[in-house]
Amino acid sequence: MKRIVALLSGRGSNMLAIAAALRRERWPAQIVGVIGDRPGAAGMQRAAEQGLPTALVDYRAFARREDFEQALRQAIDAFAPDVVVLAGFMRVLGAAFVEHYRGRLLNIHPSLLPAFPGLATHRRALEAGVAAHGATVHFVGAEVDDGPIVAQAVVAVHADDDEAALAARVLESEHRLYPMAVRWFVEGRLRIEDGRVRLLDPRPGEARLLHGDGR
Ligand code: GRF
Repeated sequence: MKRIVALLSGRGSNMLAIAAALRRERWPAQIVGVIGDRPGAAGMQRAAEQGLPTALVDYRAFARREDFEQALRQAIDAFAPDVVVLAGFMRVLGAAFVEHYRGRLLNIHPSLLPAFPGLATHRRALEAGVAAHGATVHFVGAEVDDGPIVAQAVVAVHADDDEAALAARVLESEHRLYPMAVRWFVEGRLRIEDGRVRLLDPRPGEARLLHGDGR
């Protein structure tokens, strides 16, 4: 059984989507720990309700980022994970941390990277007038929202979209995209070659690009 640790700051819907998929599809994997960086995050409550072990590393208790990341590393490594998934984890992670988990640290970002790294992606996509938006799962690299891309989901931007409508459509695609990508990882089917990801033994219908609704 592969051991998954999820890190979150907020509502935790991506963590729950992964938890549901691994049960439904009987992956050779389990979520062994859910770690939050702030008290009261809804996702921590939801994890506890599911019987998942939780831990809190409150970033406000640390004056320096290095000390927070040291404590976070200890909390993560206590669960002995094979893979660490960032699921709405709202802290920028330093180089030493990223290096420690190189090749086993995944993130989901709500845009088609390399477009719109950072925050407020849906508003910025609307302002830019793009016709396609979406989400990206990637291995975490040294820069923010950077690193080898595992898979992307594309959704259409509709003429009458506001930020909330677009965010909801992207989130729905995230809930299909992230479980798919984590499953590939735990099945040992992802290789990073020259900074790019290759999916080994693709099965019929499997692709690194998911299409959302195409109204
Ligand atoms: C998602 O949009 C994810 O792409 C971004 O943060 C949000 C987390 O949502 N990194 P949730 O906590 O998984 O519901």
